[in-house]
Amino acid sequence: MKTAKIISITNQKGGVGKTTTAVNLAAALNINGMRTLLIDIDSQGNASASLGLIIEDDVRTIKDLLVSQQDPNEFITRADAVEIIPSNNSLKDIEDTLLKDRHFDTLQQSIAPLTGQYDYIILDCPPSVNVFTKNALKASNEIIVPADAGYFSLLGLKQLLEEIERFKMELNPQLEILGVLACKYDRRTSLCGQIYETLKQSFPDKLFKTYIRLNIDIVRAQIAQKSIFSYNNKSSAAQDYMSLTEEILHGK
Ligand SMILES: Nc1ncnc2c1ncn2[C@@H]1O[C@H](COP(=O)(O)OP(=O)(O)O)[C@@H](O)[C@H]1O
Ligand SMILES: [Mg+2]
Repeated sequence: MKTAKIISITNQKGGVGKTTTAVNLAAALNINGMRTLLIDIDSQGNASASLGLIIEDDVRTIKDLLVSQQDPNEFITRADAVEIIPSNNSLKDIEDTLLKDRHFDTLQQSIAPLTGQYDYIILDCPPSVNVFTKNALKASNEIIVPADAGYFSLLGLKQLLEEIERFKMELNPQLEILGVLACKYDRRTSLCGQIYETLKQSFPDKLFKTYIRLNIDIVRAQIAQKSIFSYNNKSSAAQDYMSLTEEILHGK
């Protein structure tokens, strides 16, 4: 029997590449023969929408799962070869209730029956440390922190790692930082390469060797409602996300 490794893709900053990483990592793990479930736990539903799931009333979402005691398998949909529990704006309806009662382990309990079926479960978190992010961190074994050039300073990354340590203590001391992932990496602008090298020296065990280059095919794939692998398998983004996946499967 499998025991799924549960990975949250998290950073409270928006627009850094969380959703892109969650969707394409889930797709790449599947391509590598790892049975993987993607869970969208952001009320913006970007991961769901980027795979073409604009949720109609008859598709059940993560919100429906969190408020029910039903078999979580009933909530899994397939989109562009990715198994996903989708999300939409309705998730907001339960935010206050979960927060009021400090229900940080609802997700963990809801998905517990799935861990024997999957090799990996990837959680796409919202851009804030709200009750859903806390549920995700509580349910996870590991986190990946995508960061764009805005975070590429020694101080920025140091503060980020310290913040994660605080959440670990509060929610889940077993949580491991799998790595910080440099996204939207642009060799041509600013000091990207130089800063990355400095960071690599300062946090050799925290930064993934792989970085995700800026690539317009990412945007095009999202418009086409496909993963980067089914949109353009030859793109630099497909290569970078495959290289990240290999790093995760075989070590840094
Ligand atoms: N490597 C990349 N190259 C080009 N655009 C990217 C790349 N990664 C993400 N983007 C774009 O940046 C925007 C924010 O990415 P997203 O993954 O949604 O971030 P987050 O989930 O952290 O808010 C999206 O429009 C996405 O298409
Ligand atoms: Mg997102």
